[in-house]
Amino acid sequence: MHILTLGLVTLFSLGRVQASNNSTTVASTSTVAGTTTATAATTTATTFRTRTRTRTRTTSATTTTATAVATGACKRSTPPRVLTHRDLSYRPPHHHTGNGTTHGNGTTHDHGHGDGSNSTAPGNSPESSYVDYVASTWYAGWHAQDFPPESLAWDKYTSVTYAFAETTPNVAELSIAASEESLLSKFVSLAHQHNVTAAVSIGGWTGSRYYSWAVGNAANRTTFVKTVTSLVSKYKLDAIDFDWEYPGTQGIGNNIVSPNDTSNFLEFLKLLRPALPPKFVLTAAVSMTPFAGPNGNPSKNVSDFAKYLDYIAIMNYDVWGTWSPTTGPNAPLDDSCAPKSAQIGSGVSSVKAWTAAGIPAHQVVLGVASYGHSFTVRQKDAYEKGAKNTTLASYAPYDANAQPRGDRWDDESGNWDYFGLIEGGFLNKDGSVAPENVYKFDNCSQTPYVYNTTSELMVAYDDAKSFAAKGKFIKSSGIRGFAMWEAGGDYKEVLLDAIRGGIGLSTQCGK
Ligand SMILES: *[C@@H]1O[C@H](CO)[C@@H](O)[C@H](O)[C@H]1NC(C)=O
Ligand SMILES: *[C@@H]1O[C@H](CO)[C@@H](O)[C@H](O)[C@H]1NC(C)=O
Ligand SMILES: *[C@@H]1O[C@H](CO)[C@@H](O)[C@H](O)[C@H]1NC(C)=O
Ligand SMILES: *[C@@H]1O[C@H](CO)[C@@H](O)[C@H](O)[C@H]1NC(C)=O
Ligand SMILES: *[C@@H]1O[C@H](CO)[C@@H](O)[C@H](O)[C@H]1NC(C)=O
Ligand SMILES: *[C@@H]1O[C@H](CO)[C@@H](O)[C@H](O)[C@H]1NC(C)=O
Ligand SMILES: *[C@@H]1O[C@H](CO)[C@@H](O)[C@H](O)[C@H]1NC(C)=O
Ligand SMILES: *[C@@H]1O[C@H](CO)[C@@H](O)[C@H](O)[C@H]1NC(C)=O
Ligand SMILES: *[C@@H]1O[C@H](CO)[C@@H](O)[C@H](O)[C@H]1NC(C)=O
Ligand SMILES: *[C@@H]1O[C@H](CO)[C@@H](O)[C@H](O)[C@H]1NC(C)=O
Ligand SMILES: *[C@@H]1O[C@H](CO)[C@@H](O)[C@H](O)[C@H]1NC(C)=O
Ligand SMILES: *[C@@H]1O[C@H](CO)[C@@H](O)[C@H](O)[C@H]1NC(C)=O
Repeated sequence: MHILTLGLVTLFSLGRVQASNNSTTVASTSTVAGTTTATAATTTATTFRTRTRTRTRTTSATTTTATAVATGACKRSTPPRVLTHRDLSYRPPHHHTGNGTTHGNGTTHDHGHGDGSNSTAPGNSPESSYVDYVASTWYAGWHAQDFPPESLAWDKYTSVTYAFAETTPNVAELSIAASEESLLSKFVSLAHQHNVTAAVSIGGWTGSRYYSWAVGNAANRTTFVKTVTSLVSKYKLDAIDFDWEYPGTQGIGNNIVSPNDTSNFLEFLKLLRPALPPKFVLTAAVSMTPFAGPNGNPSKNVSDFAKYLDYIAIMNYDVWGTWSPTTGPNAPLDDSCAPKSAQIGSGVSSVKAWTAAGIPAHQVVLGVASYGHSFTVRQKDAYEKGAKNTTLASYAPYDANAQPRGDRWDDESGNWDYFGLIEGGFLNKDGSVAPENVYKFDNCSQTPYVYNTTSELMVAYDDAKSFAAKGKFIKSSGIRGFAMWEAGGDYKEVLLDAIRGGIGLSTQCGK
C-alpha cells in the first residue's frame, strides 16, 4: 500500500513490532518521499502500521478436522490453466488501459528457455469466449485450524498461494514454521487434484526482513536461487509469489533495506527463471506504487520485471486504517472523486502507476481484501454534516484511544474479516446490514462502511457490491484478474462469487 503508511511505519512501529531490532538495517529509508501526504503527518503515534498480513502467532494444532465444503458440480474439462510465457503476449483486443504507451507491442517475452514463439492465446482466438483470467487467493497457513485447505473453493480459483515462507538470516533457508508447514503438501495435492496452480508466497509483512540480503550480491543470489528451487521441488510447486514488503523501502520497521534492492531483485529473477521449468509461474505481491529506486521513490520504469514475472498483484488495501488521520476506505477502487487530501491511492491509480512504469496491463492483477478496518467514531462525528444523521461520513474523525480489537482472527489492530462482520452482528448472513447498524456505500471508493450506533464502531470494508465493482473494473481495464487476501476471510464465497461475476466468470465453476 502503502503510499501513505510506508513512512509511518518507520516512525513508530519499532516499539510495537515483536522483533524490534534495527541493528541490521543497511540503509535507512527516508520514507517514501513524494508519496507520503500531508494527511499522514497528523497521525497519532498511539497506533501502528499493521495489516492482515501481520499474523497472530498463536499456536494452532496441525491436525484439523476438515469439514470439506462441497463446491458443487464444477468438474473442469480442461487441464490446469498454468500460465505460459506464450500467454503473456496475449492481450485481449479491447483491453487497453491508459494511453497504451508502455504496453508493449504484442510480441512475446522470451525468457531464454523456449516456449516463447507464439503470440496468440493458446488454443483460442482472442475473440473466443476463452478467458485467461487469474482468479487467485492467498491461503494463510496459520488460519488452517479454522479454515483447513479442504474448505477452499478450489473450483473457483485458477491459482492459490500458501502464505508464507519467511526469509531468514540464512539465505539458504526459508521458514514456514509459523504457517503450518505440515499442511503444505496436502495443500499442493489438493490444488493439483483440482487443476489449480499451487503457489507459495515468500515474505509477507513479517517475513520480508532478510529479503535484501537474499538478493544482496551475486553469491547470495546464487544461494537464494537454490533455496527457492529446493522449496519448489520439495513441495512440487507450480508457482512462487514474491511478497517482499518492500524492496528499497521499509515495511514492518526492522527489515534490512538497501538502495539496490530493486535492481538486485531483478538480477535475482534473471538467475531464477532459467533454473525453473518452462511453464513455472512467478508472481509478486506489490505495493500500490512501483518498486522503489535507489532514492526510495517509486521507479519510473520497471518494465524489465515483466520479462521475468508472469504478473504482479497490487495490494490495493490498507490504504486507510488506524494509522490514518480520519476514517477512510480500506481498499478504494477509485479516489479521483474524493477530497484532494484523501486521494492517496486506489485500484485505479495504482494500476495506472504500474502500467505507466512498464508492466503491461495483462500482467497486472488487482489485490482485493476480504477484510476491513474499524474505527471508534463518536455519534456526533459519524454522519455527513447537514445530512440529518442519516448518511455516514466517509472521512470522519475517530477516537484512536478507543480502538477495540476486531474479530477472532484479528491481530489487535481492529481488523474485521467479512465473516467476522457477520459473527460480530454488523451484517446479516445474507450480507445485508443488521438492525441498529447504519450502512453506506461510498460512491467514490466504491466500498461500504457499516456503523454500530451503540458501540460507535465504524468499519470500512468490502462486500459483494464492492467486489462486483472491482470485477467490472478488472474486465474493463484489461488487467489479468484478482488476488484476494485472504481466502478464509470470505463467508460462503459471497465475495469470491461477486468479483467473479463482475468479471463475467461463472459463479459456479472455475472457468
Ligand atoms: C539483533 O539482530 C542481530 C543480527 O540479526 C542479532 O544478532 C541480535 O541478536 C538481535 N538482537 C535482538 C535483541 O533481537
Ligand atoms: C536504531 O536506529 C536508531 C535511529 O536510526 C539509532 O539511533 C540506533 O543506534 C539504532 N540501534 C541499533 C542497535 O542499531
Ligand atoms: C483436471 O484435468 C484433468 C485432465 O484434463 C481432467 O481429467 C480432470 O477431470 C480435471 N479435474 C478436475 C477436478 O476438474
Ligand atoms: C499517458 O501517458 C503520459 C506519459 O506517460 C501520462 O503523462 C498520461 O497521464 C497518460 N494518460 C493516461 C490517460 O493514462
Ligand atoms: C516489437 O518489439 C520487439 C521486441 O521489443 C521488436 O523486436 C519488434 O520489432 C517490435 N515489433 C513491432 C511491430 O514494433
Ligand atoms: C502458434 O500458433 C499457431 C496457430 O494457433 C499454431 O499452429 C502453432 O503450433 C503455434 N506455435 C507454437 C510454437 O506454439
Ligand atoms: C549475504 O548473506 C549473508 C547471510 O547469509 C549476509 O550476512 C550478507 O550481508 C549478505 N550480503 C549482502 C551483500 O547482502
Ligand atoms: C549498489 O550497487 C552499486 C553498483 O553495483 C554499488 O557500487 C554500491 O556499492 C551498491 N550499494 C550498496 C549499498 O550495496
Ligand atoms: C524502460 O526500460 C527498458 C529496458 O530497461 C527500455 O527498453 C525501455 O525503453 C524503457 N522505457 C522507457 C519508457 O523509458
Ligand atoms: C445528530 O446527532 C447528534 C448527536 O447524537 C445530535 O446532537 C444532533 O442534534 C443530530 N442532528 C440532527 C440533524 O439530527
Ligand atoms: C452493537 O454494539 C453493541 C455494543 O458493543 C453490542 O452489544 C450489540 O450487539 C451490537 N449490535 C449489533 C446489531 O451488532
Ligand atoms: C455514483 O457514481 C456513479 C458514477 O459516477 C453515478 O452514475 C451515480 O449516480 C452515483 N450514485 C450516487 C448515489 O451518487
